[in-house]
Amino acid sequence: MTTGIDLGHPQAQSVRSDEDVVRVRQLVRAVAVAVKLSLVDQTKVVTAASELARNTLVYGGGGTVEVTTVDNGRRKGLRIVFADSGPGIADLDLALTDGYTTGGGLGLGLSGSRRLVDEFEIETSAENGTRITVTKWSR
Ligand SMILES: Nc1ncnc2c1ncn2[C@@H]1O[C@H](COP(=O)(O)OP(=O)(O)OP(=O)(O)O)[C@@H](O)[C@H]1O
Ligand SMILES: [Mg+2]
Repeated sequence: MTTGIDLGHPQAQSVRSDEDVVRVRQLVRAVAVAVKLSLVDQTKVVTAASELARNTLVYGGGGTVEVTTVDNGRRKGLRIVFADSGPGIADLDLALTDGYTTGGGLGLGLSGSRRLVDEFEIETSAENGTRITVTKWSR
């Protein structure tokens, strides 16, 4: 193993700056390589992670990203949790609609990310902020 990634433990990265978003991309890429995702799937999960980490920074006011490897006995994969203590997402259905943005973006981050991964879960509230969990499996 030469990635320098300890796959036995979750890898955490705080998200407070643009540089941290770059670090999230690098971490997710390294773990995706380690669990042997195809090049296409690596790119998909890195793209999703980049969008979600950017939302954590911009709308959540910063937060954390945690990357864990998963194994269901048949396939390996990676699971990524994006957590912030921001205002939460008031209307989740709307936020997941292509083109919906409150920040002058393209409104494709959440909806696009959902399509790029295998599992996608959101818990959000005004009290506890937003927690998004995504999983990508090797095939
Ligand atoms: N972590 C978050 N906390 C609070 N609101 C969020 C969070 N993530 C997304 N949102 C809300 O959901 C909307 C849609 O997010 P999405 O990433 O799809 O689009 P965007 O960030 O506005 O634009 P894009 O990502 O295409 O540049 C955001 O405009 C914002 O209102
Ligand atoms: Mg976005």
